[in-house]
Amino acid sequence: MTENADGLDAELRVPSCERCPALVESRSQIVDGVGPTDADLLFVGEGPGANEDEQGEPFVGRSGDVLDEALRDAGLARADVRITNCVRCRPPDNRDPTTEELANCRGHLESEIDRLDPALIVTLGKVPSEHLLDRSVAITSESGDVVDARIAGASRRVLLSVHPAATLYDRSQRDGFFETIARAGELSGAGGADGGSGQSRLGEY
Ligand code: URA
Repeated sequence: MTENADGLDAELRVPSCERCPALVESRSQIVDGVGPTDADLLFVGEGPGANEDEQGEPFVGRSGDVLDEALRDAGLARADVRITNCVRCRPPDNRDPTTEELANCRGHLESEIDRLDPALIVTLGKVPSEHLLDRSVAITSESGDVVDARIAGASRRVLLSVHPAATLYDRSQRDGFFETIARAGELSGAGGADGGSGQSRLGEY
């Protein structure tokens, strides 16, 4: 990472935040996004779980293992993509973040998207898909769809995906999830069939 990128990464960290009383109570730390600040691909999950809360990094538990495996299969390295969440603090009992909590954390996510300006955003699950597209999403049937949406002041290309955890409780979702992540690599030019030549195919969609 260059010195500037390091500085930007530090800028994107949220040093303290007390906006959501229930999350302040349940978190042990704020879990910021990880990965290069010039990444082509930005993965957005829902919020930290127990492992993420403990380790201070998104997607490091069982869902993270599935995501890492799908990334490897797609010819992508975890270190080459950016991974973040809609909310940065662990909700109690692994419940979904509330509408208010999502809204409270929106500014942090938008700053990250604005500064990264990724070629492709991949929403991991129903919560981030609905939050970023601002509409209801039938994630099982819409997973794999690519849409354009106005996010953080610009039109952004978004690839919808089921959450990696879905593959753990419903094995039949695994192939579809792996195909969607492979598609993310191909669309962004960051990996996939061309072996990461850097040639983006986003213009085709
Ligand atoms: N699930 C999420 O949505 N985000 C994480 O960071 C981990 C699990």
